[in-house]
Amino acid sequence: MARKTLIAGNWKMNGLLADGVDLAKAVAAEVKKMGKPGCEFLVCPPFTLLTSVKKALRGAKVALGAQDVHFNPKGAHTGDISPLMLKDAGCQYVIVGHSERRADHKESNELINKKAAAAYEAGLKAIICIGETLAEREAGKTIDVCKAQILGSVPDNADGTNTVIAYEPVWAIGTGKTPTAEDVEEVHAAVRKVLAKKLGKGNANKMRILYGGSVKPGNAKEFLSLPDVDGALIGGASLKADDFIAIAKNSGQC
Ligand code: 13P
Repeated sequence: MARKTLIAGNWKMNGLLADGVDLAKAVAAEVKKMGKPGCEFLVCPPFTLLTSVKKALRGAKVALGAQDVHFNPKGAHTGDISPLMLKDAGCQYVIVGHSERRADHKESNELINKKAAAAYEAGLKAIICIGETLAEREAGKTIDVCKAQILGSVPDNADGTNTVIAYEPVWAIGTGKTPTAEDVEEVHAAVRKVLAKKLGKGNANKMRILYGGSVKPGNAKEFLSLPDVDGALIGGASLKADDFIAIAKNSGQC
């Protein structure tokens, strides 16, 4: 079954109203020029920009996503945003369990699992992030760490329609360093095996597994042409429309 390549931008904590809207408009214009792209586009701006970015994307085949979510539909949770609020703001996707949230907010696999399950309830697709630290890689624990993260943070009712996995080695994020293509394919294939055990082969074969960590126009083809890589989750390079679009074009998948 063909998995449609997903080119996703995680803007992280970047963008004020004017530059966020300009970026979204520039991405929208480029995607419109592509006509019927063979891949799917997604941008995940900070919460404050969701509604204005949604407007700026009007008429373009670019989906909207958020970067985090609370697992409750509403209530006394100061500072949090619920899945229904994201849906209401026009989101189709939400990123959960990004390594920056696992590190900065001590998010556990259990919590991430609850967030993803709550996202499904609201009709959102969850992008569940996994990935090893440099110490874990150097200790030869990459596959074990990713396996434990998958088993703990992916809900039992995850499938190819409601879930995307993003493999992001922590040491490759924002550093310009990347694993080799062989290393990436090895991890992605191992992740798909774990998903098959947990969710069944059919679901695992339909589920997209993105690579993230210093993806740039220059390395897009190398990673995105691998058999088990179904797209990219892009941080820094998603903040420049030209780079974001060049990644898609260079990937050979769009
Ligand atoms: P960079 O592309 O800046 O390395 O960030 C990757 C990332 O964390 C996307 O979620």
